[in-house]
Amino acid sequence: PRHYAIVPAAGSGARFGAEKPKQYLDLLGRPLIFHTLAALTAHPAIERVWVVLAPDDPWWPRHDWSELGPKLETVRCGGATRAESVGNGLQAAAMAAADDDWILVHDAARPCLSRPMLDALCDELADDPVGGLLAVPVADTLKRADANQRVAATEPRDGLWQAQTPQMFRYGRLVEALSKHNAVTDEAGAIEALGLKPKLVRGDSTNLKVTFPADLALAAMILRGRK
Ligand code: CTP
Ligand code: MG
Repeated sequence: PRHYAIVPAAGSGARFGAEKPKQYLDLLGRPLIFHTLAALTAHPAIERVWVVLAPDDPWWPRHDWSELGPKLETVRCGGATRAESVGNGLQAAAMAAADDDWILVHDAARPCLSRPMLDALCDELADDPVGGLLAVPVADTLKRADANQRVAATEPRDGLWQAQTPQMFRYGRLVEALSKHNAVTDEAGAIEALGLKPKLVRGDSTNLKVTFPADLALAAMILRGRK
């Protein structure tokens, strides 16, 4: 089977609160999403990368992406939710992808994806019947709140993982999962709703999602440290 990537990049970055969506903010002299896409296009197994933009995104055309090479394809079919954007991206990929090809869905907002992480994911799932995702064991102690924001319970954290992306599933099954189960926050959730059990592939905490301004500063430190 072939490997393809879909990068949902149609969010507005409301929690970040910048003057433009966080995927276009400067990160070491490049738009944040440049780093995200570079990690994917540089991987030899990934044949094509669909970037799902908002239909009215004015920022993408303001940058030069040619350095990322010919694997990149933009589609202006972002939806109201991340799941919808991914679902629309899958439709755009229909001309290229066969049912048993692998699709890696990766957040535009995770610019610190690295080659070793991608290798771990692809290698560990190569013969897997279901697919899976990068994830890390939860590090903090977890409290359940009551209605008054007082601690109702301390939740045991053993066995709890934090989901990241990429999430890697077979094309045909992912299309089926997302068309049946659209109210999910990640692809694994839709696959689970089919009664399947995605594999958790241990990633690492540097694969952070830029959500708040402090995350951007941390991403810059992480990327600088790798150079
Ligand atoms: N995304 C998308 N389409 C949407 C919403 C989100 O393609 N309708 C993408 C974002 O661009 C991001 C990824 O999904 O790369 C993860 O979403 P998130 O971190 O929540 O980004 P935003 O939705 O942009 O941020 P916020 O929720 O703070 O507005
Ligand atoms: Mg969001």
